[in-house]
Amino acid sequence: MAPQVLTKATGENNPLTDLQFYKDTIAGLTALPKHLNSKYFYDAHGDKLFQDLMNCEEYYPTNCEMEIFTTQTAEICQTMMGQGDAFDLIELGAGDATKSTKLLKYLLDNKTDFSYLPIDISENVISYLNMTLPVTLPGIDITGLNGDYFDMLKKAAAISDKRKVVMFLGSNIGNMPVADAELFCHELRKHLSPGDMVFIGVDLKKNPATVLAAYNDKQGITKRFNLNLLERMNRELGADFIVDQFDHYAMYDPETGACKSYLVNQAEQRVVVGSEVISFAKDEYIYMEISQKYTVEQTDELALTTGFEPMVHFSDSKNWFLDAVWQAV
Ligand code: AVI
Repeated sequence: MAPQVLTKATGENNPLTDLQFYKDTIAGLTALPKHLNSKYFYDAHGDKLFQDLMNCEEYYPTNCEMEIFTTQTAEICQTMMGQGDAFDLIELGAGDATKSTKLLKYLLDNKTDFSYLPIDISENVISYLNMTLPVTLPGIDITGLNGDYFDMLKKAAAISDKRKVVMFLGSNIGNMPVADAELFCHELRKHLSPGDMVFIGVDLKKNPATVLAAYNDKQGITKRFNLNLLERMNRELGADFIVDQFDHYAMYDPETGACKSYLVNQAEQRVVVGSEVISFAKDEYIYMEISQKYTVEQTDELALTTGFEPMVHFSDSKNWFLDAVWQAV
């Protein structure tokens, strides 16, 4: 692989340069090896592709977690309800709240004293939930919070001093390397008080072939999901990636539990992104995403090292996915 060539083009006062998306993109593409942040996968096209992925045969995590929420609704809700005191149910990255709706319905049917505070970086998601949930779940007390998780947790604490139950589902923690996941849990703990709870969805280590197939599906949805980020740069940053020249490569290391996705450039190309020109050698790759898998013991360890006590493990019938409940100590 030849080294990258990076030259400055024109556009000193380009307003693009103020965008965080632009800054992160340039930082990632001028680093070696080149990398991008998978949080940028989720524009409207990416959201749609992720929906398709969740419905595809090989991508098991969503169905496994849905099974947990469907078959163990009462047990999960009873754990949340604790001694029966009022609580705030806070969901980080709520999305369309399909899984949590199961729990919300049970809590409402059982006249539980709780408020639901979904937090999401997408304004669309929050206005959708604020509008639709009071219709589908009459009587729900909902305050959607749009913004960064920790800023919004601070806001939630300012709105109410009730006991907090935080849900972080869907193995979103897996999209951080282990060291970052630890920092994240430490930070989360700082925003909570002793007795508060965390429900965290984690994808477990399993047959490596099963994991790899989920990130290398036959229909190529994962490939399109990854390529969409390059297309998004073309759309939003005026970049000129020849997207078809990239192939998708996924790998899973059963020893570390890291499943990683790459895009591999198949013929030399120079790409203009805003004011930068970035060269891609033939066979040069971009590291796109990590989807870290854990053992149950490793999740307990993560809890204990970040200020929590593991309380309960909810898993699906295949033991492929875990919703762990931790209590802040
Ligand atoms: C959102 N996140 C937990 C998914 C995962 O499994 O890492 C994103 C994804 N990437 C490829 N397929 C699904």
